[in-house]
Amino acid sequence: MSANNTNTSAYSDFHLQYIAGEWQKGKDDSVNTNTNPYNGDELVKIQQATEEQLNEAYEAASQAQQEWAKQTPAARAAVLYNAVNILDQRQEEIVNWLIKESGSTRIKAMVEFGATRAITLEAATFPNRVHGEIRPSNTPDKENFIYREPIGVVAVISPWNFPLHLTQRSIAPALALGNAVVLKPASDTPVTGGLLLAKVFEEAGLPKGLLNVVVGSGSEIGDAIVEHKTPSLVSFTGSTSVGKHIGELANGGDYIKKVALELGGNSPFVVLKDADIDQAVKAAAFGKFLHQGQICIAINRIIVEDALYDDFVTRFLEHVKTLQVGDPDKMETAVGPIINEKQVKSLKDKIAKAQEEGAKMILSGEIDGQVVPPHIFTDVTREMDLSRNEVFGPLVGIIRAKDEDDALSIANDSMYGLSSAVFTQDLAKGMRFARGIKAGMTHINDISVNDDSNAPFGGEKNSGIGRFNGEWVLEEFTRLHWISVQHQPREYPF
Ligand code: TAP
Repeated sequence: MSANNTNTSAYSDFHLQYIAGEWQKGKDDSVNTNTNPYNGDELVKIQQATEEQLNEAYEAASQAQQEWAKQTPAARAAVLYNAVNILDQRQEEIVNWLIKESGSTRIKAMVEFGATRAITLEAATFPNRVHGEIRPSNTPDKENFIYREPIGVVAVISPWNFPLHLTQRSIAPALALGNAVVLKPASDTPVTGGLLLAKVFEEAGLPKGLLNVVVGSGSEIGDAIVEHKTPSLVSFTGSTSVGKHIGELANGGDYIKKVALELGGNSPFVVLKDADIDQAVKAAAFGKFLHQGQICIAINRIIVEDALYDDFVTRFLEHVKTLQVGDPDKMETAVGPIINEKQVKSLKDKIAKAQEEGAKMILSGEIDGQVVPPHIFTDVTREMDLSRNEVFGPLVGIIRAKDEDDALSIANDSMYGLSSAVFTQDLAKGMRFARGIKAGMTHINDISVNDDSNAPFGGEKNSGIGRFNGEWVLEEFTRLHWISVQHQPREYPF
């Protein structure tokens, strides 16, 4: 299982599926035409997979997993460490793919590469962190052993916004823990969301069949992936609407399975009256406009306490006006293109709706192709569409809060509960406020966009079920098996 580190061929040809350890042509009639969201250049055409190929992927995964689970922890860890080395060697190519396929700015692509590397390195420690327990029994002469085993085959369905990281965040832990994977990347990012990682693991020496990448449309093969008898866990990252559907399918069909759902968010960014305003302004701009706001944990609502509201709005506007908009390949670009025309249309609708509802647009700009410049709205209330729903774009509303209690009530007034942030110079107040927020994650004096590979990542309410990273994903991607041993004959009542 040594890495083929001498392989220097470029990661350039991605027109094939990766099934059962072979690069093979998709057999469906439909084609995925993968384009650059900034300039429309065609990157690759991929013949999509059929359900028969999906079955082949599951069969290969199921077979390969049995041997993989028997490997020593050291052997599995070695593949993950190899993958880290290959990521490092291929960093520039990978970053370039993120820019051209997902419209990532250079800054965002580097952030995403770093997060991907970090979770791969974390996952490399998992094989040696799995352990069982021995527990006393209330039955005389019995011993209880609790084994933690691989869960089996994991189905992974991933999104287009942080395709490399949000895919690797599932597949690296799954593989490290002795599982096999069948992955369906998002149709907008089949390369960075899947095929590229298949090349990395192939080069890293991962045995054939353990990682399968099936490129096909969610609406065509999505249900078949979830309903299939083989996977024991479906790890889905994407919208709340599709996530709910997957949750229902996974538990409503013939084969019940576990689901891990990482869904939408509506992150509040709260600025209390004693905040360091300069720092809050810079944080708000970065946490809102990184990747054009297309991040589930991006700032969705800015909530400012009355005493600081006008000053914050003036300074935020001044700062955001300085952001460079356009070509994501340029180092200085802060705001690049939106992933596809459908998302651009949804943003245009949101801009119109915000104005109809009475929000004041204090910054706008011409939409050029798929590049949408920052739009800022004031006089926004908690009832407006901008506050209630996930924006997933470079638009933001600023809400005025009467006081700290009002700010907390607005922050919690959402169906979502993924990430959140609060700015204050009083740390005791910050802690109290943070603990009052119903969310999976809250960052004091920082942005809502944070991911540490050793801290639990996930949400409450309609933002999903389960946690990624560290020992939390280790539990998610394994199963427990209680085995008891009766050492002396037991006395039964009859
Ligand atoms: P979705 O439309 O939900 O797509 C996500 C994935 O689901 C894609 O691979 C998609 O495939 C697939 N899919 C679509 N319909 C399916 C079905 N019926 N059965 C199975 N799979 C199906 O979301 P998106 O547009 O990629 O991403 C945007 C949303 O995801 C936002 O709401 C965002 O907040 C959320 N998101 C959440 C997180 C976390 S960590 N909570 C991270 C990123 C994104 P196709 O591409 O082929 O349609």
